[in-house]
Amino acid sequence: MNIKNDALSLVLDAKDEKSLEEIKLQFVGRSGKLTLALKNIAKLPLEKRPEIGALANDVKQAIENAISSQEGSLKHHVKERTRQAIDITNPGIKPSVGHLHLITQAISEITSIFQQIGFTKVRYPEIEWDYYAFTALNFPENHPARDDWETFFTTEESDNEKGQIILTPHTSSGQVREMQKAVAESKKTGIPISIRMLNIAKCYRRQSDVSHTQMFHQFEGLVVGENISIVHLKGVLDYFVKSYFGENRKSRIRPYHFQFTEPSFEVDVTCGVCLGKGCKLCKAGWLEMGGAGMVHPNVLRHGGIDSKKYSGFAFGWGVERVLMMKEGIEIDDLRLLYSNKLEFLEQF
Ligand code: PHE
Repeated sequence: MNIKNDALSLVLDAKDEKSLEEIKLQFVGRSGKLTLALKNIAKLPLEKRPEIGALANDVKQAIENAISSQEGSLKHHVKERTRQAIDITNPGIKPSVGHLHLITQAISEITSIFQQIGFTKVRYPEIEWDYYAFTALNFPENHPARDDWETFFTTEESDNEKGQIILTPHTSSGQVREMQKAVAESKKTGIPISIRMLNIAKCYRRQSDVSHTQMFHQFEGLVVGENISIVHLKGVLDYFVKSYFGENRKSRIRPYHFQFTEPSFEVDVTCGVCLGKGCKLCKAGWLEMGGAGMVHPNVLRHGGIDSKKYSGFAFGWGVERVLMMKEGIEIDDLRLLYSNKLEFLEQF
C-alpha cells in the first residue's frame, strides 16, 4: 500500500515534534489520506470489505506506532543535546562556606583542653536565683560586694526563699548546683565526692564599652575532693595557659579578694607580644586573665559538703578575654563580636 510506505518514510525523516504532528494530520487526521480511504471501504462490494478493512486497520496501527516511536526518539535527542551543551571541564562555582563564630571556636578549644585532664563540661541556668549567684557563695545580704557584679534583676522583690530571679552575672552560680548534684550521686553510689566541673555559659552584667559587652561568656572550673590544694590549682592553671596560649607563656597568681574563695587570687598571663618584658600593650609584661581561689568552707557547706573532709579550688575566666589575649588576635572593640558584621567575622 502506497499510503503506508509514504507515511512511514515521512515519519522517519521528521526532524521535530511539529512536523510529526503535521504528518499525523496528513494521514490519520479527520480528513487524512488513510481516514478517507477507510471511509471508501463502505463503497466496496460486501465480500471484499472485511479483508480490505483489516488491512487498512493494520496500516493505521503501523503509522500510529511509527509516529509515537519517532516522538520518543526525538525527545531523547533533545535531552542528549542539552546534556552535551554542559561543558563539564569548566571550573565550577565555588559554594561559599561559612565557619563557626569565633566564640564558639574558642569554647570548643577550651572544652577539649580541660576534657583531656578529666573535666566534664556542664551548663547551668543563665536565668538564676539570687541564692545560687550570691547567697550560697557567701555574699551576706545587702553586702556592697554584690554591687561589683552589676547584676540585672528581673523582679523588684521576691517572697521565694531563693530570693530574686536574676540574669546570672558569673558562672560561679553553677558551683553550689554542681556540689548538690555530686552529694546526691555520692549518697547513691557510696563513692567519695569528686568534682571536676567545667561550666561554660553566657553571663550578663550592666556594662557596655570597648572592652565589655552586656552579654559575655565565662568558663568556670571547680575541683572538689580529698586533699585538694593550691598546688593543684597552680598545676591546672599552668596547663591551661601553655595549652591555650602556647608553651612560651607563663602564669602567676596574685592575692585578691572574692567572697567565695579563701585565699583568693587574680591570675595573670605574660603578654603575647613582649612575653613578659613589658611593652606599650601590656605595660608591665602581664595581662590579667581572671579570678581563682580555694573554695570557701561556707560555700562547701551550702553545697552540703563537709569542709573538714573535702577541699577544692575554683576559677572563673572570660572566654572573650582569653580569646583577645591569644597571640595574633587583636579586637579593638569587643562589641564587634556580637554585631553580626560579616566583614569583621570573616577575618577569622
Ligand atoms: N566569678 C568571679 C568573677 O566573675 C571569678 C571567680 C571564679 C573567682 C571562681 C574565684 C573563683 O569575677
